[in-house]
Amino acid sequence: MTANRRPLIAGNWKMNGRGDDGLVLALQLAERMKAKKGATFDILVCPPFTLIYGVGQALDDSGVGLGAQDCHAIESGAYTGDVSAAMLADLGCAYVIVGHSERRAGHAEINSLVRAKAEAAHAAGLIAIICIGETEAERDAGKTLDVVKDQLSGSLPDGAGAANTVVAYEPVWAIGTGRTPTNDEVQEVHAFIRAELTARFGPSEAQGLRILYGGSMNPNNARELLALSDVDGGLIGGASLRCEDFWSIAQSCP
Ligand code: PGA
Repeated sequence: MTANRRPLIAGNWKMNGRGDDGLVLALQLAERMKAKKGATFDILVCPPFTLIYGVGQALDDSGVGLGAQDCHAIESGAYTGDVSAAMLADLGCAYVIVGHSERRAGHAEINSLVRAKAEAAHAAGLIAIICIGETEAERDAGKTLDVVKDQLSGSLPDGAGAANTVVAYEPVWAIGTGRTPTNDEVQEVHAFIRAELTARFGPSEAQGLRILYGGSMNPNNARELLALSDVDGGLIGGASLRCEDFWSIAQSCP
């Protein structure tokens, strides 16, 4: 983390939460945030589609942001079951996650589709949180940086920059497993991502663009991870479902 980038703590609720529990969690977070004077971090939650409207109402003007977990690449039309970025913006979302590894694996999403979704997000005025990360087999084969390079170049649209894009580095093998890379390994990948962004978008965009770490971040490891110089926040799954834990992670921002 450096002074010119404001940390971002993003909660990915995944396919969790029904009416009341989602709203209770949103209200608890809103209360914490309202009571916190002069927060030095940005915080947001990405509930499932079914809860976005209600959570948005509960968050009100608390300063906790609202995002979604996916969007379609087209603005509207005959796409049964899909939700467009424009619809999410209409609901009050400011962010949308695209290219999460669970969508890449479970819905066969490839880089070009992730890129199209990020473009749709930008067109709708949303900030795209673009996820990348290697599998365990790829890490074991020493291919981490190659995979990250390929996903970055294929998934980020040309119009990406500090104002409309966040990159989330999430090693697939660290998601939901309780395992994380070492701090040195995380910093190595984040610095590599920053260098790639610099080469493509120039130093000024690359210095401002936030790179989140995701994968088993929790209240015990957050402080060390968030202190790494190229880690600008976290994308948090499991621990974002408990207000106490999620808030504690946010409090760990340097
Ligand atoms: P986790 O999930 O924090 O439960 O590992 C992170 C993510 O998938 O974004």
